[in-house]
Amino acid sequence: PARTASASAVGGPVMIAHRGASGQAPENTLAAVDAAKRMGVVWVENDVQRTKDGELVVVHDDNLARTTNVEQVFPGRAPWKIKDFTAAEIRRLDAGSWFGPAHRGARVPTLKQYVDRVEKHRQKLLLEIKNPALYPGIEKDIVAVLRKEGWLDRAHVHSRLVVQSFSAPSLRAVHTLRPDVTTGFLGTPAVADLPKYAAYTDQINPQHGTISAAYVAAVHRLKGAHGKRLRVNTWTVDDAVNAKKVRGYGVDGIITNRPDVVRAALRG
Ligand code: G3P
Ligand code: CA
Repeated sequence: PARTASASAVGGPVMIAHRGASGQAPENTLAAVDAAKRMGVVWVENDVQRTKDGELVVVHDDNLARTTNVEQVFPGRAPWKIKDFTAAEIRRLDAGSWFGPAHRGARVPTLKQYVDRVEKHRQKLLLEIKNPALYPGIEKDIVAVLRKEGWLDRAHVHSRLVVQSFSAPSLRAVHTLRPDVTTGFLGTPAVADLPKYAAYTDQINPQHGTISAAYVAAVHRLKGAHGKRLRVNTWTVDDAVNAKKVRGYGVDGIITNRPDVVRAALRG
């Protein structure tokens, strides 16, 4: 039966904390990594972009308005795009108060600070290259930081890192620079196109409303860039009904803001 054929590993889907445990702490901060750790979640997802002076920082939107106090600190600098601010300017911002007073003073982490914290907790990282069209050559910069921090060492590169993007050219660039890095395409390619993606990716990571058991089974029939079964991590699943639905589809991983809710649902 289809369910058996597409079933994920024993133990059910792996949980991945979206932007860190972003239901518990401000998204993409070190506090969100810590919160995931406290909840026993091994994998965290983040979003990486680049400042005006070339520093890699962890932020989701292409601007700083929603998740920091940039409008107060730099009122004349609308629309507050990350690419128009230096790392030193971004360091001055409060990236926690918007979430709640307990998080006042949280900072926008650099990629280096972020991977150091993930490593300290012995967690694993699903790194998203966000808006790569805004940052030509960002793949090379990301690879340089990861290499410097030891994340591409042979002992680690396959065990604790996946690089994902909505951008196929960006993922192809990563694969060309470092064929050893595991990659994931964000989206739901047509089944007929999946073999093209499998040439340079190891995962297809679709929005949960776009998939079915048949789609997951079609992905699973293929081998990815490193010769293993192509995997499926779906997002963003924050409630019990959808958690059970995608488990039924046989997905390998669930990307969630609410690891507590998903875990409870999948236990039940
Ligand atoms: O990891 C999947 C998810 O993060 C993609 O959407 O907008 O939250 O980066 P977004
Ligand atoms: Ca993301």
